[in-house]
Amino acid sequence: MAHPLTAPAFPASSPDAGTHDAERRQWLLATTAMGCAATAAVAVPFVASFAPSERAKAQGASVQIDIADIAPGEVKVVEWRGQPVWVMRRTPEMLAQLDGMTDLADPDSQKKQQPPYATNTHRSIKPEVLVTVGICTHLGCSPVTLNEGTTNPSVPADWKGGFFCPCHGSTFDLAGRVFKNKPAPTNLLVPPHHYLTETTLLIGEDGSAAG
Ligand code: FES
Repeated sequence: MAHPLTAPAFPASSPDAGTHDAERRQWLLATTAMGCAATAAVAVPFVASFAPSERAKAQGASVQIDIADIAPGEVKVVEWRGQPVWVMRRTPEMLAQLDGMTDLADPDSQKKQQPPYATNTHRSIKPEVLVTVGICTHLGCSPVTLNEGTTNPSVPADWKGGFFCPCHGSTFDLAGRVFKNKPAPTNLLVPPHHYLTETTLLIGEDGSAAG
């Protein structure tokens, strides 16, 4: 069942946080919320979950997240190092699109935008669970999600679903791989992460078995 679209609740800036960092974080999180709202009619539902509230987490500590409540096709957003991290549970149909995707700039993830354990077609540990930083690799805007079948004229008619950056038009597939001839130079960043349990992710650290 699709969850209602709501703006994430963000932790208040700490008194001693740098003004720049605080403003940048607010901007990034705000653009994420705007992106969600702008595409509510056609987009993958977002499950708002900016959980961490401690200054240490915002400054670099790992963030634990429960993914059990992310339904197929949904995205949960969590803040890590002041950035929105998307955790998307892809459907079998979404995954099937990834194999035959063409016109990608770096289809095999040769550029080091992900840990070794995410250097695969689906760019993830579990094929169905994408974990990626929701910030465009061009100039840092927050892309929005556009499903297959969208009538948004910003993407081609044969669009298979993915992410679209409204700032300068970069497009990414559902593994965060950037399409050719777009301003963004690389695929979306996959942060270090691993599973503590079947349904609990730790974002910010590689697991001991990471290869
Ligand atoms: S910031 Fe995304 S295309 Fe420029």
